[in-house]
Amino acid sequence: MTEGNENIWSEYSRIYRKVLPQLSFFRELQAKVIGLCQPYKKILDAGCGPGLYFEKLFEQGKDVYGIDLNAGMIESLKKGLGSRIPLEAIESKVIVGDIKHLPYKDNFFDAAINVNVLYNVPDPLNALKELHRAIRPGGALIIAGPVPKNAEGERILTKKILEEAGELTQEFTYVLKINKEILEKHFVNEISLEKITDMIIEAGFSRITYTDSTLYLRQVWLLKAEK
Ligand SMILES: C[S@@+](CC[C@H](N)C(=O)[O-])C[C@H]1O[C@@H](n2cnc3c(N)ncnc32)[C@H](O)[C@@H]1O
Repeated sequence: MTEGNENIWSEYSRIYRKVLPQLSFFRELQAKVIGLCQPYKKILDAGCGPGLYFEKLFEQGKDVYGIDLNAGMIESLKKGLGSRIPLEAIESKVIVGDIKHLPYKDNFFDAAINVNVLYNVPDPLNALKELHRAIRPGGALIIAGPVPKNAEGERILTKKILEEAGELTQEFTYVLKINKEILEKHFVNEISLEKITDMIIEAGFSRITYTDSTLYLRQVWLLKAEK
């Protein structure tokens, strides 16, 4: 991971928790992913960012773990939980680390979620193999990511963000700036639904189920695969 990459996530970590949940398409994807987690108890949030998925899973009584490469994101997760979730309850389960080298035993988790992370990982197949190793047989990977860059999609998302920005114009302007920088400099892989399907199979998963493609204004795919 380059230093530039680190910086962009550190910048984003300052506002991510506050701004993203205000966007309807973010909440819609989040609800779908959380819904797919229901049959599972011990869940890894791989690339958890500031914990917007993590906290929902925790509140539902899941035994949830989080890992993210960016220390600022992990810090934001811990601060963001505030008094609702005691830090002692999660501290040892939320760590800074690379999803390509997971510090967990084989077959440790019932499921892992990986949301909008893989496009930023230089070697996505190795990350998928590592997730496969850490999930138990019969367990699931629930994974979402952006469709390949396209001008129409960028336009639609920007328009929607501006529509929903409301009073928080300054912060949303900042989000738009960061999103643009991510698209220009940190979009390491462009992963289509076909490409993620191939990689997931190569990593050892099977029984893939696809969800509807209208999510995130059609700019994100989401699927579940079993080990
Ligand atoms: C767009 S954010 C998504 C955060 C969260 N999954 C969500 O949907 O709210 C992408 C996150 O992936 C993390 N990330 C990128 N590469 C990673 C890697 N190799 N291992 C762990 N985390 C990584 C970044 O630090 C960042 O927090």
